[in-house]
Amino acid sequence: MFRKIAIASVAALTLSMGAAQAAGPGGHVEDVPFSFEGPFGTFDQFQLQRGLQVYTEVCAACHGLKFVPIRTLADPGGPELPADQVRAYAASLDAVVSPDGTERPREWTDKFPARSGEGMGPDLSLMAKARAGFHGPYGTGINQLTKGIGGPEYIYSILTGYSGEEVVEAGTTFYENHTFPGGKIAMGPPLSEGQVEFADGHEASLENMAEDVSAFLMWTAEPHMMARKQSGFIAVTFLALLTVLLYLTNKKLWARAKGKSFEA
Ligand code: HEC
Repeated sequence: MFRKIAIASVAALTLSMGAAQAAGPGGHVEDVPFSFEGPFGTFDQFQLQRGLQVYTEVCAACHGLKFVPIRTLADPGGPELPADQVRAYAASLDAVVSPDGTERPREWTDKFPARSGEGMGPDLSLMAKARAGFHGPYGTGINQLTKGIGGPEYIYSILTGYSGEEVVEAGTTFYENHTFPGGKIAMGPPLSEGQVEFADGHEASLENMAEDVSAFLMWTAEPHMMARKQSGFIAVTFLALLTVLLYLTNKKLWARAKGKSFEA
């Protein structure tokens, strides 16, 4: 019996290894120690503010955030911008065009603009949760337990994963990238050293900008992560307490009956 199970599991592992190798180039995801990892991790307000700046100055040219309400930039646990700054930021974005063609300035109660058309990228609102960077070994999910789900790491790795090589296929230019599935992506390297100027004096290296914008995109995908972790922690503490109380109650209830049977 044991031998059969052993043979079956070795066969399954070999097969899944084959599948992983067949996936081709790409798929390399770096582990980044984000502040929001672990059961007590929290978003870093200033990192989110810098990430918003990178998104606005660089990524927003091609990527929308159409599911994110602008007013949430002021919410606790997020970038926590002052309300007047959020209003001014909203007004600086593209106008809102209604179906009949009339335009009005964007308000902070609106969502971020969407992007569509030639050369535009996918919407980034939920990207950090739509991509799982860590699977293995061989799809067991062990890496997700130890390193995190890997969505923001995947975005970080794409942004820092260009080799500098270009290939033209059927009239389209692709850029070699060690993270994007297939090893080449249609997005040219969006970030370069010193591209933005951070107000807090943070160095605008490629890695810093990539890390900040990835953290910001984790926040857009899961703005209430901290509240969720907190209630999870309270629930687990409560259950642990309840377990102890039930154990003691059980002991006490049965103490007499059990004591008797021992005497007999
Ligand atoms: C000039 C336009 C342009 C800019 C600027 C740009 N992107 Fe892209 N992005 C694209 C396009 C086009 C794709 C689709 C690539 C493909 O499918 O091969 C893409 C794809 C992506 C993907 C991969 C999505 C997936 O399907 O896995 C991520 C992540 C991403 N962009 C993040 C960013 C971030 C973050 C920034 C800002 C630092 C940025 N992009 C700036 C055009 C752009």
